[in-house]
Amino acid sequence: MDRIRIRGGAPLNGLIPISGAKNAALPLMIASLLTEENLELGNVPRLADISSLLRIMSNFGVDHSIAGRRPGQSSETGQTIRLTAKNIIDTTAPYELVSTMRASFWVIAPLVARFGHAKVSMPGGCAIGTRPVDLLIMALAKLGAAIEIEGGYVVATAPKGLIGAEIDFPKVTVGGTHVALMAATLAQGTTVIRNAAREPEVVDLAECLIKMGARIEGAGTSEIVVEGVSRLGGTSHDVMPDRIETGTYAMAVAMTGGDLILDNTRPEYLQAALDVLGQAGVEVSSTHGGIRIRRNGNGIQPVDVTTDPFPGFPTDLQAQFMALMTRANGTSRIRETIFENRFMHVQELARLGAQIRLDGDSAYVDGVAGLKGAPVMATDLRASVSLVIAGLVAEGETTINRVYHLDRGFEALEAKLARCGAQIERLRG
Ligand code: EPZ
Repeated sequence: MDRIRIRGGAPLNGLIPISGAKNAALPLMIASLLTEENLELGNVPRLADISSLLRIMSNFGVDHSIAGRRPGQSSETGQTIRLTAKNIIDTTAPYELVSTMRASFWVIAPLVARFGHAKVSMPGGCAIGTRPVDLLIMALAKLGAAIEIEGGYVVATAPKGLIGAEIDFPKVTVGGTHVALMAATLAQGTTVIRNAAREPEVVDLAECLIKMGARIEGAGTSEIVVEGVSRLGGTSHDVMPDRIETGTYAMAVAMTGGDLILDNTRPEYLQAALDVLGQAGVEVSSTHGGIRIRRNGNGIQPVDVTTDPFPGFPTDLQAQFMALMTRANGTSRIRETIFENRFMHVQELARLGAQIRLDGDSAYVDGVAGLKGAPVMATDLRASVSLVIAGLVAEGETTINRVYHLDRGFEALEAKLARCGAQIERLRG
């Protein structure tokens, strides 16, 4: 297995191009199941999760082609993938495939909406918590799908098609909103989704669906209204920039000091996180196509943070922010309200010398003067990258094991950081 080795201490200076968002690309790819025509997606990041979803889609009979790289394009330029769900031969997503990536459960929505049948393995728990799918199932049941659980599979049937309904989510769920939105596009009549997730990835999906012919209003607010149509067509759509990748590199330069331009991204996608960085003493400004982050000389001030659904501080940046706070001039409290068990990085940060106390849903981080390199490993994507951020300032060498977690969600991580001065390399296993 590959490892990443970092020698800490170098500031980050230069420009990092931000990739397309994994968490937007995945539902967009799944939306191709709603039409027999071609869906062409640009700016798709080259990530392990994208390849896994392509395998799952191929299993259903979806054809795909990836446009060749043009002269002058680097391996970090997003790829263009064309998906065609014309001849669907199977509407079953087996456990072996769904268990590798939870988001693949969302295929249940377009399959039942278009074909009247879907059989998808329950995804099971994962490192960051139990993560049930009860609200996704509730949304499909409201739309008239008959749901049965058989041998670990959710079987959804609607032989006469789905019917518009009112869906009230008792808590904000990104996956639940994606599922309700995709299913409602082909349901007969009007669907109202209340307490909908307002994440930019939901808006990106809605914009693509609208280009495919869907009638959707209110995406980006907590109430989305969908008028069902009888069929959707093909279109082309570029995946939005990755706000979590953007925030991660912003935390990295806040940690190391230096001056970074994060290019091809938008500050409004992560305003809450940028505000917090400002309070921590980091200079944040907008550039023509992105964001500039600088910290020169000043120390890092402690800031208390609570994770919340968008537009709040994202849970997917919590681990990275905790890494930053390990070097703050004082104590910060970080509260995790989205997932009940998303603190696995705490033990690993402690191996580098961080002082963190856990109490229920909160971590209290006492900033220390320095971290010391060590071998570490993490159990999920965002936790792994928090160890990279800590490693960038830790004295000596930090080796990060289980790099496959990083490969699921960060395109060309070592190349992007190394070009800006980090001493980081991949050791092939
Ligand atoms: C999405 O997961 C993201 N994944 C996650 O990113 C992200 O952490 C999460 O949203 C929150 O922002 C993708 O977009 C692929 P939820 P999702 O449904 O949709 C509970 C990463 O690192 N819940 O918004 O699965 C759930 O347990 C990943 O890129 C139910 O109780 O998250 C959680 O506590 C990790 N029942 C809360 O809601 C349900 O049926 C929010 O989950 C569904 C969810």
